[in-house]
Amino acid sequence: MATERFHSRGICFGCCRMPGCLARNWPDGGGPGNQSGEQGGIRYPNGAMAKTNALSGKWALVTGASAGIGTALARELAGCGARLLLTARRRDRLEALAAELAARGTETRIVTADLNDPEAPRQIYEATEGAGLTVDVLVNNAGLGQFGAFHAAPAEQELSQVRVNCEAVVRLSRLFVPRMVERRRGWVMVVASTASFQPIPYLSTYAATKVFDRFFALGLAAEVARFGVTVTTLCPGPTESEFFAVARASAFRRNVQPANVVAARAVEAMMRGRRIVIPPLDGRFTAFLVRFLPTGLITGAIERIARPQ
Ligand SMILES: NC(=O)c1ccc[n+]([C@@H]2O[C@H](COP(=O)([O-])OP(=O)(O)OC[C@H]3O[C@@H](n4cnc5c(N)ncnc54)[C@H](OP(=O)(O)O)[C@@H]3O)[C@@H](O)[C@H]2O)c1
Repeated sequence: MATERFHSRGICFGCCRMPGCLARNWPDGGGPGNQSGEQGGIRYPNGAMAKTNALSGKWALVTGASAGIGTALARELAGCGARLLLTARRRDRLEALAAELAARGTETRIVTADLNDPEAPRQIYEATEGAGLTVDVLVNNAGLGQFGAFHAAPAEQELSQVRVNCEAVVRLSRLFVPRMVERRRGWVMVVASTASFQPIPYLSTYAATKVFDRFFALGLAAEVARFGVTVTTLCPGPTESEFFAVARASAFRRNVQPANVVAARAVEAMMRGRRIVIPPLDGRFTAFLVRFLPTGLITGAIERIARPQ
């Protein structure tokens, strides 16, 4: 890992050479004794924006923490000194991550919940904020896509994407954001996608849910900024995770970024108060380019490329 590029304007983004960098305190992850922060194939983050200590001791709730980008975001936030509330359906995965983080000194709790259930956000809230934990960071990451022709797909499969990717995001935000506004402090992240910049045939519902996420987060960001709450939209491009296996969408799996790289960029952007972050360079270029191209042209081209055999 190149370390120097993590320093900017006197702030340590994880290279651990600056005085005060929290990464020095990590027993083996990324401190001077282990500049790479790699252990057992896992890159342990050194703590984006660690020098600000802004997240130190704060509770951060990460949905979809059992895999992929959510796991990487949890590790990254732990690297910033946050305490972690991990939620997803697969308890064994959450327990394994909690044990890993606890071994590195991070206080962690888990809440299993199925976000298909409209009651789940309330249950997560009651188990966390409602139980006296002050949740300063809400990461709406859980999500899924399903590749295939809409007219042939089970309706439940399409609706599940709307429930988990959109409805649960609104429900969780509606529960936690008012408390942040009251406290005049908080960070919200909504994981959208580069799929939110154009329609994607055969991932039609998925791409539409991600437009919803992006516009919801951008609108909310403008509303709550004056109360000291920031909302950051993360738009990953193709990222190493279980997403493509779940979605059966290998046609879209190209130029895949590691999840820890995406998570590091996301947390850095969140702590800078950025409203949107698009980690891959080609994703930023595409997001810019599509403003000037007819939507029908782009959509038709994607349809021809992605059409199932
Ligand atoms: N990977 C990519 O290329 C990519 C690109 C752009 C955006 N994204 C977005 O990134 C986010 C994370 O996806 P990922 O790539 O990390 O995929 P992933 O590896 O499949 O992880 C998805 C996570 O969401 C959770 N989840 C799914 N359905 C759920 C449900 N009904 N209730 C509760 N949790 C549920 C899963 O946990 P359980 O199965 O244990 O419940 C898992 O932790 C998603 O919002 C996705 O749309 C991904």
